[in-house]
Amino acid sequence: MNEEIEQIRQQALSELEQAGDADSIRALSVKYLGRKGRVTGFLRNISELPADQRPAAGKRANEIKRELESAFNAALNRLSGQKEEEKQAIDVSLPGRQAPLGTMHPITRVTRLISRVFERMGFGIAEGPEVESDYYNFEALNIPKNHPARDMQDTFYVSDNVVLRTHTSPIQVRYMESRQPPVRVIAPGKVFRCDSDLTHTPMFHQVEGLVVDEKVSFGDLKGTLTAFVHQVFDRHTSLRFRPSFFPFTEPSAEVDIQCVICRGSGCKVCSDTGWLEVLGCGMVHPAVFENVGYDTNRYSGFAFGMGVERIAMLKYGINDIRMFFENDIRFLRQF
Ligand code: DAH
Repeated sequence: MNEEIEQIRQQALSELEQAGDADSIRALSVKYLGRKGRVTGFLRNISELPADQRPAAGKRANEIKRELESAFNAALNRLSGQKEEEKQAIDVSLPGRQAPLGTMHPITRVTRLISRVFERMGFGIAEGPEVESDYYNFEALNIPKNHPARDMQDTFYVSDNVVLRTHTSPIQVRYMESRQPPVRVIAPGKVFRCDSDLTHTPMFHQVEGLVVDEKVSFGDLKGTLTAFVHQVFDRHTSLRFRPSFFPFTEPSAEVDIQCVICRGSGCKVCSDTGWLEVLGCGMVHPAVFENVGYDTNRYSGFAFGMGVERIAMLKYGINDIRMFFENDIRFLRQF
């Protein structure tokens, strides 16, 4: 007899497998568990069994009843879950889910702007290592050991003869070592100095520039940098060349631009001078040419170096350099 209830169970489960919608599942539930259902009927007729079989048969039938109940319910839930998903998938009235879009970091933006301006003037782009030897960072640039000029750059030493480059100027040397003039390149990159306050961070970015050929003059330097300033700021910005000193250039100059805030009348940003320093430059020192094996009688050249953070601060009116590195999304979204 227990065969009968097992058969009912098998049949119920296989019919459930075929049932594709809620209505047919509900119909199955009625067919097997309803008042006139087959399981219910079996339970009702248990008294007709021989007395010794009744307890086992009753127990098994009740187990099967519960099993089928939960199988039918689970199947119904699965179907309604699917429906929910389908409904969501096709609700065309919902606003689309927006993937959060990043923006370009202001330093990347300004580096690209500077590079574009020089590329238009025919400059190529060079790179060099951030961990540099003492030779390339100092020696080859005419900054001998124990020379006071080394104090201009608070250096992070990796070991006695290895440093984190303090400027992008070593790329000049590496570039010249591996080819002959004419040279016309810029070299953007990270540089490192042991320094930290409102306008200095231990890591910042520079763009180096180098032009070498026959008959390159200080006039070429002035023309190139004037064109640069007019394109990065605007063409009404005046600039001046102030005599200065760098061991790797002679003569050397610092370039100031008319204050972008007060336009020259004097304000806090320019310390009432009307001028802002933007870069260092000069004619390549013959000692540097000799170090790379260039003929100093035949070739001359100019070089320059600027801080990208500084240019970005002036261009966008930012007064705390640390904002570039905090990555506050409210700051970054403004560019
Ligand atoms: N390397 C210098 C610095 O970091 C900047 C500089 C000055 C680069 C004059 C040059 C140059 O190429 O000619 O302070």
